[in-house]
Amino acid sequence: MTQALIEAQDLARHYDLRRGWFAPKARVQALAGVSFSLQPGRTLAVVGESGCGKSTLARQLTLIESPSGGSLCIEGQDLAAMKPAQRHTLRPRVQMVFQNPFASLNPRHSIGRSLAEPLLLHTQLSKPERQERVAQSLAAVGLRPEHAARYPHMFSGGQRQRVAIARAMMLKPALVVADEPVSALDVSIQAQILNLFMDLQEQTGTAYVFISHNLAVVEHMADEVMVMYLGRTVEIGPKTSLFAQPLHPYTQALMSATPSLKPKERAQRIRLQGELPSPLNPPSGCAFHPRCPMAQARCGQERPALREVGRRRVACHLV
Ligand SMILES: Nc1ncnc2c1ncn2[C@@H]1O[C@H](COP(=O)(O)OP(=O)(O)O)[C@@H](O)[C@H]1O
Ligand SMILES: [Mg+2]
Repeated sequence: MTQALIEAQDLARHYDLRRGWFAPKARVQALAGVSFSLQPGRTLAVVGESGCGKSTLARQLTLIESPSGGSLCIEGQDLAAMKPAQRHTLRPRVQMVFQNPFASLNPRHSIGRSLAEPLLLHTQLSKPERQERVAQSLAAVGLRPEHAARYPHMFSGGQRQRVAIARAMMLKPALVVADEPVSALDVSIQAQILNLFMDLQEQTGTAYVFISHNLAVVEHMADEVMVMYLGRTVEIGPKTSLFAQPLHPYTQALMSATPSLKPKERAQRIRLQGELPSPLNPPSGCAFHPRCPMAQARCGQERPALREVGRRRVACHLV
């Protein structure tokens, strides 16, 4: 087996909030315990309701922030043991594509300048070489060479996302983390962008962590799927088996909320009730127990560990 590209174990990140001058600090456990591994060139899709910690996970994986707990190894190197210089060399290996491509493009810079910037920062290429690479990368995402002279506002949402993808791919990263990359686009454009991601992966071998709340998108993109609830991994496994037979009640609930998936057999429909609890004050035991139709006394007392069940891992007392 090849070395994993990403190995995350109980990865955690909290934020301390000051609620007033004299009030005690409050701690938001945005990421409470996420574990997964990702092989080079593969796609892990991450799903879960808004607020469950997906973007926080993305910021840890792309080194925008540092985790406050657990361990994260990227290409075999443990982040916690890494010196600033090593971190700096690792940074171009892990790139991010945001939901809103304006976030990664400076409105006052031409597209050509935005695309050349990573080359300027991280390579020794000459100006003509950089221009050549910019032209190649525009072609790779389906844009034309003359687009380099234009500015972000002159593009449609789909084209802007193409530029953002080209920029993320510029330094041939090992991993691209895409955080809801098609959620802000017209439905008619979404499939084109998803197919672009897949074509680029085939050409470059880049691995993806693909964050989406849309299970139809996940089914299209993923090799493996990780389901998160309130900052934790609750189920993870190969896409086909996870979609065919979701084991965690939360995964089942997410799936029965997506009628377009047309499940062949789904024993019972679980309706998600109430809202995601606050990570400021998470429920005891299994964080899902207040909303779980199958919950028993034990679920409110004891937090279930992430256990192996066949080729999958599930955190539920009842599985
Ligand atoms: N910088 C921050 N400071 C305080 N709380 C944060 C911060 N970032 C995220 N959170 C909180 O952490 C939780 C997870 O947020 P996020 O990772 O954005 O979830 P998702 O992307 O799944 O919607 C939310 O409750 C959010 O309010
Ligand atoms: Mg988010």
